[in-house]
Amino acid sequence: MIEVRELSASYGAVHALRDVSFTAPTGEVTAVLGANGAGKTTLLRTITGLVRARAGSATYDGRELTRTAPELMPRLGIAHVPEGRGVITELTVEENLRLGGLGRGRGKAGAEQLDRIYALFPAVADRRSALAHTLSGGERQMLVLGRALMAEPTALLLDEPSLGLAPRIVAQLFELVQTLVAEEGLTVLLVEQNARSALSIAHRGVVLSLGRVVVDDRADVLAGDDQLRHAYLGF
Ligand SMILES: Nc1ncnc2c1ncn2[C@@H]1O[C@H](COP(=O)(O)OP(=O)(O)O)[C@@H](O)[C@H]1O
Ligand SMILES: [Mg+2]
Repeated sequence: MIEVRELSASYGAVHALRDVSFTAPTGEVTAVLGANGAGKTTLLRTITGLVRARAGSATYDGRELTRTAPELMPRLGIAHVPEGRGVITELTVEENLRLGGLGRGRGKAGAEQLDRIYALFPAVADRRSALAHTLSGGERQMLVLGRALMAEPTALLLDEPSLGLAPRIVAQLFELVQTLVAEEGLTVLLVEQNARSALSIAHRGVVLSLGRVVVDDRADVLAGDDQLRHAYLGF
C-alpha cells in the first residue's frame, strides 16, 4: 500500500500541500479529487520525488519514496503517468512503448511486454507503426498508460487521464484501469477533476482543497454525499 503521512510541500511562499495523510490500499483504486489548484499534481510529484517534501513521508510497502530519486521509482514498482499525456511525437507508437521498458531491469523480456500491452490496448496495437503525433487524444492516453505498464509496475499514479477526452473514451479508459486492478492487483492513485467518473471505479476517495485533505472515505460514501459533491466535486 501507499501510505502518505503529514506530507507538506511548497513552491516558495505557496503552500501547495499541507499535512496530507491517507492510505491507498494494495489492489484498489484510490481517487484523489479536488478543484484545479487543489494540490493533486503536487501530491503525485512529491510522492515520486520530483518536488521536494518539506515535511512528512510517503511510503510504498514500507519504503520511503519522497527522499528517493524519481528515476528509481520503476525499480520500486511505481509508475507515474503525468498530466498532459506527453509522448515523443517523432517516434512511432512502438518506439514510445519500448522507451517505457528502459528503466525496468527486471521481469519479462521487452517483446513479451509489448505483446501484453497490445493485447490490453488493441487500438494501440493497430497503430503500432504510426508516428505518435498522428494519434487521437484517447489513443495517446492509452499509449502513455501502455508505456508506463512496460516497466511492469505494481503501483500506478495517474494524473488527470480523462482530461479533454470524450465521455465514451473516458469510459473505455477507466474500464481498462479497473481490469488491470482486478486482474493484476495493481494499486492505483487516480488523480481526477472528473470526480463522477473516477468515483465510479474507485474504492476510496480523498478530496483535496487548498492543499489539505477535506474528506477521505469510501467512494460510494463520497458519491452519495450531496453536500460534498456540490461543494468540492462539481457534480
Ligand atoms: N511549479 C510551480 N510553481 C509555483 N506554484 C505552483 C507550481 N505548480 C503548482 N503551483 C501552485 O500550487 C498549487 C497546487 O497546484 P497543483 O498541484 O498543480 O494543483 P492541481 O493539480 O490540483 O490542479 C496551486 O496554487 C498552483 O498554482
Ligand atoms: Mg493537476
